Amino acid sequence: MQLPFDAAAVRRGMIPAHIYNDAEVFALERERLFSRAWVFVGHVSEIPDPGDYVVRQVLADSFIVARGEDGEVRAMFNMCLHRGMQVCRAEMGNASHFRCPYHGWSYRNDGRLAGLPFHRDAYGGEEGFPRQGRTLLPAPALDTYNGLIFISLDEDAPPLRAYLGDFAFYLDYYTRQSPTGIELSGPQRWRIKANWKIGAENFAGDMYHTPHTHTSVVEIGLFREPKAEKRKDGATYWAGNGGGTTYKLPPGSLEERLSHVGYPDPMIETMKKTWSRGQLDVVGRDGFMVSAASLFPNLSLVHNWPRVEESDDVLPFISIRTWQPIGPDETEVLSWFAVDAGAPEDFKALSYKAYLMCFGSTGMFEQDDVENWVSLTHTAGGSMARRLQLNSRMGLRPDDTPLVPALPPEEFAGPGEARVGYGEYNQRHLLNRWLDHLEREVSA
Ligand code: FES
Ligand SMILES: [Fe+2]
Repeated sequence: MQLPFDAAAVRRGMIPAHIYNDAEVFALERERLFSRAWVFVGHVSEIPDPGDYVVRQVLADSFIVARGEDGEVRAMFNMCLHRGMQVCRAEMGNASHFRCPYHGWSYRNDGRLAGLPFHRDAYGGEEGFPRQGRTLLPAPALDTYNGLIFISLDEDAPPLRAYLGDFAFYLDYYTRQSPTGIELSGPQRWRIKANWKIGAENFAGDMYHTPHTHTSVVEIGLFREPKAEKRKDGATYWAGNGGGTTYKLPPGSLEERLSHVGYPDPMIETMKKTWSRGQLDVVGRDGFMVSAASLFPNLSLVHNWPRVEESDDVLPFISIRTWQPIGPDETEVLSWFAVDAGAPEDFKALSYKAYLMCFGSTGMFEQDDVENWVSLTHTAGGSMARRLQLNSRMGLRPDDTPLVPALPPEEFAGPGEARVGYGEYNQRHLLNRWLDHLEREVSA
């Protein structure tokens, strides 16, 4: 099938503007992308005990992600086997059973059908309709990494670890600062009238917008760096199925650099024992600290270190979010605060505050960003946008060679490809992955 836009242009970094608000493109994304990719649905720390559950979506498909009495985490399609009612209507909780609101069929928290009202009279009992072997439909594939739970609607999806590829190296900075790993608060949920790809691209590599969109946040001195232009000194990396941005840290040892962004000594000691040589070198030897990142298709992460109190001290926070597509012009954001489970309690409290100031539903960055994305999406839905190709070629010369070379391993210990300075390398990577999926028809 011919794609409804110029795919070759996308490969060159020229983006048909209407892909950010187009029903036909959205239908293709449902059919060819979200039907196959690994989609983040939650973290094991959200459901620590047997019976704990959360309800999460992959596009229009609702799943109950629950921990069974056996301790296993499962994702079950939230649709009753009888006549299709949504079995669980709550967003999260703890339950031994789920009872369908329509006619009352009930299911154990591992999905097995437990009971049917009037089983004997209506079905002839166990003989006429055995409950044995009937379960809510399981998600075709489920896997975890550092406690992050992903599901795929494709039972032949590659193993999650292979899908992450070398992006796992970077994911560890956010989700494995100690062997215990992170715990989450949230999610906060809100909807924005913007296409889901815009946020994913922004978090993957748009350090160029910081000086402009977030001028006021810089002006009030929320960050220690006096100039937002500092962002050009950072490196942008892409590895496996994800990529992100980093800040360049001032000269110093590993310990000095981690403490520069606000980590207390006990946490630094744990990181030193938990991270690999390469992971420690990116920070300590090369002086780069991870900031925003995206894993294709719609998971983003952010790590930043604002001033949270009157003093000059900064404090780091980590946030995880998904861009859950609702339609071509609407996205539901699910945003979690993440913190190392072993961190000191006062650190956790201040880090939570730092997150809320910057990226919660009322966060200062959030408001700045979203106004752009809503406006962009609205304009992309008009007829003139069909004639416009947006320029996403920053960092490329006319002959497609990069403006600056990739950093050699002596200057950047991380895997993948990293470059210093402004560039839209990662936005292009992300849209190329997107196109790979859209160009691949789903076999019947
Ligand atoms: S639809 Fe669930 S019990 Fe009938
Ligand atoms: Fe932003």
